Parts: sequence; C-alpha cells; structure tokens
Amino acid sequence: MSSLPFHDLHFQALTPQSLEDLMRIEESVYAKPWTRGNFLDAMKNNNWCQLLMNEGELTGYFVAMMGFQEVHLLNLTVAPSYQKRGLGLHMLQCLGMMSQTVNAEWIWLEVRVSNARALEVYEKFGFRKVGERKNYYPLTTNKREDAIIMSYRL
Ligand SMILES: CC(C)(COP(=O)(O)OP(=O)(O)OC[C@H]1O[C@@H](n2cnc3c(N)ncnc32)[C@H](O)[C@@H]1OP(=O)(O)O)[C@@H](O)C(=O)NCCC(=O)NCCS
Repeated sequence: MSSLPFHDLHFQALTPQSLEDLMRIEESVYAKPWTRGNFLDAMKNNNWCQLLMNEGELTGYFVAMMGFQEVHLLNLTVAPSYQKRGLGLHMLQCLGMMSQTVNAEWIWLEVRVSNARALEVYEKFGFRKVGERKNYYPLTTNKREDAIIMSYRL
C-alpha cells in the first residue's frame, strides 16, 4: 500500500529480544492480554509472528497459524498511537499475500462480539461472519463473551 503515510514500513520476525516492546502494546490494548508465554509458544510452534516496524518503532504485529489449506489469524494489534491510519488493513493485506504463498484457501479468525472496531476493519478487508462460539472469551471473573467466527476466501 504505497499511499500509506509512512516511509520505512517493514516486517520483521518476532524474537524473544523484541518481546518487551510488543508486551507494552499488548498490555495497553487488551483487558485480557496474551502473556509472554503465549507469544513464546507461538514462536516455538512456528506460527507466523510478525512485527510491523516504522523507523525503528514497533507499530503493530500479528500472529497467525498455518493449517491444512488455511491460515488462522490469532492476534492482530496496532499500537494505539498508530491506529486508524491504515496499518491494520495493511497487515491483513500482507497476511493475505503470505497465505497465498503457502497455497492456503481461507483465513479464519475469532473476534469478540463487542469489538466493533475490529469487526468493521475485518469486514472492510473482506472477511465475512460465518458463525459464533458461545462464551469463548473470558470477560470478568465469572463472565464470558461470545466470539464471532469470520472467514476470508483467498
Ligand atoms: C482492530 C485494529 C487492528 C485495526 O487497526 P487500524 O490500524 O486501526 O485499522 P486501519 O486504520 O487499517 O483501518 C482502516 C481505516 O483506516 C483508514 N485509512 C486511513 N488511511 C489509510 C490508508 N492510507 N490506507 C488504507 N486505509 C486508510 C481507512 O479508510 C479505514 O477507515 P475507517 O476508520 O473509516 O474504517 C486496531 O484497532 C487494534 O489494534 N485494536 C485493538 C486490538 C484489537 O482489537 N485487535 C483485534 C482483535 S480480534
């Protein structure tokens, strides 16, 4: 996306050394953030763990898992100060291209029913709602929240 107002956008793989910067964003964005252990497991399992950098600064990241002819997007996050500037869509486009290189036919994801912003961005990209998972996400101590399942045909 050449029209994005950033001059040095590039991806780099997540490493244990870059995890501190990522965790600062993760913990500032989510009420129920992933833990360091979750990200380390994702790296160990050879999930795609990509950082979107601009001029040395971490602007966002995604984690996705490859399956048979499909890719499951597990985490997509843009740093608060970089949101609403096209980076979420940019990461989805890059994930789409990466997924094509492994001959995937679908990308799947789950999103909280309350996450209107993410739903909007996923729909804008081309994801469609295909189902729900009841009580999928933890909410408060004894409450849970449904997930919407979305898919994108590559
Ligand atoms: C959901 C999330 C990833 C979206 O990322 P984002 O970077 O804010 O989304 P984008 O900016 O790409 O969204 C596209 C919007 O940017 C606009 N935009 C601005 N400049 C743009 C450009 N140059 N190119 C493309 N789009 C651009 C688009 O028009 C669109 O506008 P809209 O607000 O009217 O929809 C982000 O809000 C986030 O990290 N939220 C918290 C974590 C989260 O909920 N993650 C998802 C969990 S399932």
